[in-house]
Amino acid sequence: MNHDDYFYEPAGGHGLPHDPFNAIVGPRPIGWIASRSGAGVLNLAPYSFFNAFNYTPPIIGFSSQGRKDTLRNIEETGEFVWNLATRPLAEAMNVSCAPAPPEVDEFVLAGLTPSPSRIVGVPRVAESPVAFECRVSQLVELKTHAGAGTGNWMVFGEVVGVHIAQHLLRDGIYDTAGAQPILRGGGPADYFEITREQLFQMRRPPYPLEG
Ligand SMILES: Cc1cc2nc3c(=O)[nH]c(=O)nc-3n(C[C@H](O)[C@H](O)[C@H](O)COP(=O)(O)O)c2cc1C
Repeated sequence: MNHDDYFYEPAGGHGLPHDPFNAIVGPRPIGWIASRSGAGVLNLAPYSFFNAFNYTPPIIGFSSQGRKDTLRNIEETGEFVWNLATRPLAEAMNVSCAPAPPEVDEFVLAGLTPSPSRIVGVPRVAESPVAFECRVSQLVELKTHAGAGTGNWMVFGEVVGVHIAQHLLRDGIYDTAGAQPILRGGGPADYFEITREQLFQMRRPPYPLEG
């Protein structure tokens, strides 16, 4: 196949109106992260450089572009809570990304209710139907291929407690679409919502392949 590619080397810039990188690697789930400073101030912020990385034990991670309040809080306390960002909570999630100073509690700013966690000292978002209580497992500075520090940090946390609203368990099976999760697309403002119509299924093939 011979594509007439647009090609660029990111180190030299993309030359486009918007960086396509996060529109290509997307839509991405959102790490809506609650944390608490050592002094006790609550914090809530979305991170879409986020994903799950391990089943047993469950480990999730997100990257902080620079040293933000969430990273500092997690360094201080070793704990955080991930909350599912849903369509009904999209606007509140967006408010919680405001670059507010450390003394501002984004739960208050976004009109959300902190609900005490069972294991960690950081509350979850009461309005969100799913939350993971996490203990930090690794803080890793991202490096270039040449080994230079980028000043950006991966935060990995082991999920030590899982909260799921009962209505999302249908005969014990978690209803992904029923939760109406939102995901981050590219550009300055694109999001996607997961709906039932988008579901399709494939089983893993045997080997050798049949037919
Ligand atoms: C949907 C969404 C995704 C975001 N993803 C990231 C991300 O992956 N990494 C990051 O550093 N900032 C990300 N941001 C920006 C942060 O949310 C923003 O800088 C916030 O003020 C950080 O809060 P904090 O200083 O309280 O931790 C994102 C913002 C939005 C709205």
